Amino acid sequence: MKKLELGAVSAIALVTAGMATAEPKAEVLHWWTSGSEAKSVAVLQKEFAENGGTWTDMPVAGGGGDAAMSALRARVLSGNAPTAVQLKGPAIQEWYEEGVLADISSVAEAEGWGDVLPASIAGHMKCEGSWCAAPVNVHRVDWIWANADVLEANGITMPTTWDEFNAAAAKLQAAGVIPLAHGGQAWQDATVFEAVALGILGAEGFRKAFVELDEATLTSDAMVAVFDQMRTMRGFVDPNFPGRDWNLATAMVMNGEAAFQIMGDWAKGEFLAAGAKPGEDFLCASVPGDGFLYNVDSFAMFDVDGEDNQAGQELLAKLIVGESFQTVFNLNKGSIPARVDVALDDFDSCAHLGAKDMAASADNGSLLPSYAHGMALRGAQAGAITDVVTAHFNSDMSSADAVQQLAAAIANSL
Ligand code: GAL
Repeated sequence: MKKLELGAVSAIALVTAGMATAEPKAEVLHWWTSGSEAKSVAVLQKEFAENGGTWTDMPVAGGGGDAAMSALRARVLSGNAPTAVQLKGPAIQEWYEEGVLADISSVAEAEGWGDVLPASIAGHMKCEGSWCAAPVNVHRVDWIWANADVLEANGITMPTTWDEFNAAAAKLQAAGVIPLAHGGQAWQDATVFEAVALGILGAEGFRKAFVELDEATLTSDAMVAVFDQMRTMRGFVDPNFPGRDWNLATAMVMNGEAAFQIMGDWAKGEFLAAGAKPGEDFLCASVPGDGFLYNVDSFAMFDVDGEDNQAGQELLAKLIVGESFQTVFNLNKGSIPARVDVALDDFDSCAHLGAKDMAASADNGSLLPSYAHGMALRGAQAGAITDVVTAHFNSDMSSADAVQQLAAAIANSL
């Protein structure tokens, strides 16, 4: 009996000693592999190491994260989830419902996340009231980027309507410039599509179509016009667009081969990493129309065993929402901080424009989640829309057929 008690005491002592000496470890799955993305995630690796953490990198190339999400599924199914995963929007809730996410409320409460994050962002990070993800940034999706010299040489200013965009693109094409740098990957088609949709449907129409999945809006004349504009855009891309990575499309704008790119502000990260200056070398403007499509990157922690892994998750969560990381990371990434209390003094003019538009959109109800970047809908519904968008862009499907297919695909996915 005595021996048993002693044994129990030393077991407790061992566990306590183990906790005190836990060495934070994290295997981090993410899709940040372009030049500026890698530079950005390196900021987190550095802070993690400086705080005693050991980082195992699991980058899965592929913009937009589709390949990363397939890799995640395979890992979780084989019972070997990574400790921390770049995950966002409703996908966080979907994984939570699978019962595989760790609760990071103790860190969130100790760090006062509730006081420094806007309610709209905090809402995505909570699962049934507890904190299940840590936000990194706010990316805006509905941007047009342009090569300043190319526009000037052709007497063109940033378009403020789609008609102006089409006229500018036709003029550039006649002058031998590729009007629109685009990569033919489903998520990039979806990115351009939702930017066009915001402009043509307006904020309320966008919400009805891509948040509420309202059938009347999905099959409306305005949606037909969105597909018409996509058909026009298809005429403005070069023949080598299929499969091109987004950052290579950005490089085409940078080197003057192409005039415009419609892409989230991770594209700005690439311009800045190459030493290009906003307002001088490249221009930024929101796409024609009102509103702001947000895309918040975040990390979720998966339920894993081991004191070291759990210590790693806590340290990562704490650093991610920390002020210093939110500043340095976002300066590299092209986004703005998720925290409301981080000064934007060191940020460029595009970031200031984005922050101003975001505040105005929040006030007038036109701050909207990006469907193309997994903020508005669950995977099945977002995927159903993107399949139709891509099929239309890469064929001669009529706009009328596209809206019918859109409504049918969504109905099938519910
Ligand atoms: C987005 C992600 C961004 C950026 C982009 C291209 O979905 O939110 O951070 O990485 O994909 O990879």
